[in-house]
Amino acid sequence: MSKPVVLIPGDGVGREVIPAAAEVLAALGLGLKFVEAQAGFEHFQRTGNALPDETLAEVEAAGVALFGATSSPSTIVPGYRSPILALRKAFDLYANLRPTFSLPGSFSRPDIDLLIVRENTEGLYAGRERREGDTAIAERVITVHGSERIARMAFVQARKRLQSQVTVVHKANVLKVTDGLFRETCLRVAVEYPDLAVNEMLVDAMAMHLVRDPEIFDVIVTTNLFGDILSDEASALMGGLGVAPSANLGERVAVFEPVHGSAPDIAGQGLANPIGAILSAAMLLEHIGQPEAATRVRAAVLETVRADVLTHDLGGSATTKDVTRAVIAYL
Ligand code: IPM
Ligand code: MN
Repeated sequence: MSKPVVLIPGDGVGREVIPAAAEVLAALGLGLKFVEAQAGFEHFQRTGNALPDETLAEVEAAGVALFGATSSPSTIVPGYRSPILALRKAFDLYANLRPTFSLPGSFSRPDIDLLIVRENTEGLYAGRERREGDTAIAERVITVHGSERIARMAFVQARKRLQSQVTVVHKANVLKVTDGLFRETCLRVAVEYPDLAVNEMLVDAMAMHLVRDPEIFDVIVTTNLFGDILSDEASALMGGLGVAPSANLGERVAVFEPVHGSAPDIAGQGLANPIGAILSAAMLLEHIGQPEAATRVRAAVLETVRADVLTHDLGGSATTKDVTRAVIAYL
């Protein structure tokens, strides 16, 4: 019996886009099975637990999950920790792959096809933050192990692509110890991949180039927070957060999620763009050995956009359901 895909809608628009993506997966006729699991701020408020053990057990058993979004307050809420961060930690999902590519609409920049490979477990997300009187301190953790494996992931991904070019993004001119180690490790591992064109760039310059000439980049590998920020920036090239997909990969478990958050301002109104979640589902298909199905889903999304079936974030007036129905029709 094949393992199910765990669906974790979470909060806000997660509850709209995950069912939409699941509908698309189901429509492929692959006989995929689904099991729904709980997580999020609302679940926390109801039960005192943001990420129940049953959810962790389901993800562990299935090995693949599609995650929607969960709300993360900007203040300390005792007992609450973002479930997506907890999942990344629990399953050591060390690589966050965030592709950005042009969509056939005037809202999208042409000729873009890049992949941000974000280190997903350490850096400023190590959870080492503290207050000492009037001083607040965050420790930024960079390890050889963490840098080596994310560099390898980026290089392996680059080999599958046309340009086979990797840009190591860092701020080693200031953070000489932490980003110095990240930079040095990536460049050392790069020697084992002589077929690739590996270069480096400071993160501030990268932020500028992503706006000015993003078409020159292929794979970008960087530390956790830089990857978080640059991937939101990159999503704007594609059409915004509503369309950007991602994959959190570990050795045994993979969690796929749209880059966007729970968007409480539009939640529950049928306005959310399901494309980010649907393209994340396509990444999931690729991961479970269904590359043809993944290609079909991506092609159907492109047709839907070409046909101008667009939600309001892309300048249209289609609902989440309209877009989902169109994608399924184009399958
Ligand atoms: C993301 C999100 C998360 C992050 C938040 C929700 C904790 O912004 O997946 O990019 O910062 O990693
Ligand atoms: Mn983010």
